[in-house]
Amino acid sequence: MIQSNSLHAAIIMDGNGRWAERQGMLRGVGHRAGAGAVDRVVKAAPAAGISVLTLFAFSSDNWRRPMPEVTGLLRLFGRYLREERGRAVSNGVAVTVIGRRDRLPDWLCRDIDETEAATAGGQRLGLRLAVDYSGRDAILGAAARLAERPEPTTRERFAEMLSGGAPPVDLLIRTGGERRLSDFLLWECAYAELFFSATMWPDFTPAELQRIVSEFRGRDRRYGGVPASAAALQLQR
Ligand code: FPP
Repeated sequence: MIQSNSLHAAIIMDGNGRWAERQGMLRGVGHRAGAGAVDRVVKAAPAAGISVLTLFAFSSDNWRRPMPEVTGLLRLFGRYLREERGRAVSNGVAVTVIGRRDRLPDWLCRDIDETEAATAGGQRLGLRLAVDYSGRDAILGAAARLAERPEPTTRERFAEMLSGGAPPVDLLIRTGGERRLSDFLLWECAYAELFFSATMWPDFTPAELQRIVSEFRGRDRRYGGVPASAAALQLQR
């Protein structure tokens, strides 16, 4: 079996709130613990064969949460970006943020710009944080930009406009026991292998990531075709 070392993994990091509430703590404590899990997973990703990692940090629908929780999350992202900057440069991680910027506070946009600029040379891992992100809005935006172009729309041009060169998602992981996509990377996940874990995100470990990647490698990805063995049989006939 060919083992690709350039997988695109995407993670819906769910369960911070329940993790905290089950221990009688505020939801914000769960988000801070979730940031610790982000650190560990980012560190472990290249060794697991992941070259692009997209994390769903804040959905465009998350603005519906109580304002103190939203403010706490935005502050946490800012702190993470400032702290990650130095580590990312040493570890070859290029950080980019996808999603809308126009509703984010100016200070967070500055943190994003500075982190993206400082880490742009990273070659080991492309870390994409989805903040104020909606898959449907991203598709609408790409369609509108493409409509202004003279060339005919093809899947390849559309994907380039949508993802700026990021490859399609190979494996999508959702923690926290829920089994839905929640408007995350809808086009990009067309042929993603899906993994649902009951683990609350703050408890997610590099070992679980490694187990999921190993299971992924055992899956037969046929993209609508037939298994390689069946294709070989047909050639012999
Ligand atoms: C969903 O869990 C999680 C979020 C909306 C926020 C994700 C944020 C983090 C993991 C914090 C750190 C991230 C970065 C990039 C530094 P939930 O709160 O909806 O959990 P629940 O379903 O148990 O309520």
